[in-house]
Amino acid sequence: MRIGLIGAGAVAPFHVRAAAALAGAELTAVCDIDESAARRAADLSPGAGVFTDHRRMLEADVVDAVIVNTPHALHLPISVEAAEAGKHVLVEKPMATSVADCDRIAEACERAGVSLTVGHIQHFLPDKTAAHGLIASGELGAVQLIRDNRSTDYRPGTRSPWFFSREVAGGGALFNIGAHCLDRSLWFGGAPAAEISASVASRFGSPVETDGVLRLRLENGVGVAIAVVSDPPTRSDSLTVVCEGGVVEADPRTGTTVRIDGRTRVLHEPTDHDIQTGFTAQLSDFLQVVDGGPPAVPLDHARHVVELILASYRSAQTGVASVLGAVPA
Ligand SMILES: NC(=O)c1ccc[n+]([C@@H]2O[C@H](COP(=O)([O-])OP(=O)(O)OC[C@H]3O[C@@H](n4cnc5c(N)ncnc54)[C@H](O)[C@@H]3O)[C@@H](O)[C@H]2O)c1
Repeated sequence: MRIGLIGAGAVAPFHVRAAAALAGAELTAVCDIDESAARRAADLSPGAGVFTDHRRMLEADVVDAVIVNTPHALHLPISVEAAEAGKHVLVEKPMATSVADCDRIAEACERAGVSLTVGHIQHFLPDKTAAHGLIASGELGAVQLIRDNRSTDYRPGTRSPWFFSREVAGGGALFNIGAHCLDRSLWFGGAPAAEISASVASRFGSPVETDGVLRLRLENGVGVAIAVVSDPPTRSDSLTVVCEGGVVEADPRTGTTVRIDGRTRVLHEPTDHDIQTGFTAQLSDFLQVVDGGPPAVPLDHARHVVELILASYRSAQTGVASVLGAVPA
């Protein structure tokens, strides 16, 4: 599979190294409107062509698939154009900036007969897969509650300027970082959300929210509390899953543990290459989907994440919980 990476910013090296690690993949092109960024990423993959316009890359017949790794509002047009050019698409999270745009991407890929997956990395990170594996084994019984505490840094200047444009990013810390929390909470909770309520804060003079708290009730009754906080004294990325028979904690820095009846057991010790392992597993999943396998992250799930972030904004604005309908198949 000849892969083209479109958007060569902060996350690009993980995608490039993922392609290098997989026998069935080869990164043959990198495209960025910033040529120096494209060159930097291409240098990690000797022989990869450099483009500054994704349309030229699609026309050049040098790729079979693309990774769309651009600002969020560009996920839609670039994914659709890639599909129309007959290329399989792995689009970074969040899938798009509206539910309608998620549907447009899915429809374009279906129409073109190409595969589509969404890069919800949480499903592939070793600390999370260890936790999910234990829960899926049934040893702990049913999931009852989930707490997700995630710090970030949304002070302007800490990341690319587009992250602070509602039009381009779709929103702020919740759209970007909250997407990870919603993704993993829904995955561990095992059902779509029935209801979501939210409060947000916009600090540091930011035009988008920098902090937010979310409360969800899933269709199966599981309760979820998510907090995304910018620049706190103590950094956190901690997912706690309360099950009938024990509590699981997953954190990329401290690893994964389970506490059952007063005893703690280690499920995963963190390593320096856990994040890369996740990106490689994610690309491997994409290759497998192209080969006709089922995706680790169903498209409805990725669409629901976007739906929930937008519902959380409505709730934060109106002060009432957003009640969601059943997620269409
Ligand atoms: N999976 C993860 O853990 C993770 C982590 C961070 C970001 N992301 C996601 O990855 C995507 C990229 O985020 P980032 O942090 O790398 O952003 P970034 O700002 O660092 O990089 C984006 C790049 O896209 C380029 N770009 C803009 N318009 C383009 C166009 N029309 N054609 C080609 N390139 C274009 C920019 O020049 C820039 O180099 C986003 O969807 C983001 O939410 C995922």
